[in-house]
Amino acid sequence: MDLSTRYLGLELGCPLVASASPLALDLGNLRRMEEAGAGAVVLPSIFQEDIENDIEEMERLVAESNPEASSYFPAGAATNVGPEGYLDLIRRARAAIDIPVIASLNGITRAGWIDYAKQIEQAGAHALELNIYYLPTDLSLDGAEVEQRTLDILVAVKQAVSIPVAVKLSPYFSSVGRMIQRLDQAGADGVVLFNRFYQPDIDLDDLSLLRDLKLSNRAEIRLPLLWIGAVAGRIQGSIGASSGVQTAAEVVKYLFAGADVVMTTSALLRHGISYLKVLKDGLIADLEARGAQSVGSIRGHLRRGATEDSIVYDRVNYIRILRAGERHD
Ligand SMILES: Cc1cc2nc3c(=O)[nH]c(=O)nc-3n(C[C@H](O)[C@H](O)[C@H](O)COP(=O)(O)O)c2cc1C
Repeated sequence: MDLSTRYLGLELGCPLVASASPLALDLGNLRRMEEAGAGAVVLPSIFQEDIENDIEEMERLVAESNPEASSYFPAGAATNVGPEGYLDLIRRARAAIDIPVIASLNGITRAGWIDYAKQIEQAGAHALELNIYYLPTDLSLDGAEVEQRTLDILVAVKQAVSIPVAVKLSPYFSSVGRMIQRLDQAGADGVVLFNRFYQPDIDLDDLSLLRDLKLSNRAEIRLPLLWIGAVAGRIQGSIGASSGVQTAAEVVKYLFAGADVVMTTSALLRHGISYLKVLKDGLIADLEARGAQSVGSIRGHLRRGATEDSIVYDRVNYIRILRAGERHD
């Protein structure tokens, strides 16, 4: 079975990608991901705040002490690894595995931290995933500004590096498709749909905010599935699917909608890294059962416009579903 796929200009042997999570901080885990069949891995994000804190700390040291201090780059305390440790993680990951290593940079403003992207490239990352996790709780900020901010960061990062850059974005734009198209036109080598936003709950017993991170469930594929189906074949860049994969069925659905790769984290946290092999075997079994010879032969077959049934993404269907009132809990 030919599982090969092309993502961000990289040739992958399998469309399954381990998405950004702390699992990838460990070299043993990275090797297990490769052994279990991952086509690529995304390292956990390094955050703008970590980089800026570190830059400030470095400037303080330079100002306060002798010139030798300028060669000292302290490890940041805010993350597990800090900026220097993150670069080291990239180098060690590159040495440990043969599949592509995608670094992840998480920031919200266009500022000095973007130069760090260059260091990520120099450390050997095959590509960079840009996670622009921005919650516009400032009520004076309108949608156009939020969109422009996202585009500005992409353009600045693209200017800083020559490795491919993907943008992992949120579904909360008023015109998601247009936003994806603008990112594509601004030079994004791919989009990852979608980022899962932090959404707090309230603990009614002690009236505190609950900030726990829930693992995903399979119903969460529906929103990314919709937008992947809507943009596949209509943008130049690659499409990565992220959210809700629990079994091979979700992987197959994302491929049918038009994803080039399908990412997973929650399933690996639940079942262990070896579960990647279960997903891969399930994908192969599904393709065989359909008489398909390759991933490429099903990819995008159910994207919008690719079938008679493209109306599935439209309003008519929406009205029909609501009127039928069917529920499948
Ligand atoms: C514990 C944990 C840590 C994560 N860390 C990151 C991160 O550093 N950067 C990032 O872009 N996404 C991060 N994510 C999000 C995942 O990469 C993924 O997009 C999300 O969990 C949805 O995919 P899933 O349904 O397969 O879990 C994290 C998710 C989890 C559960």
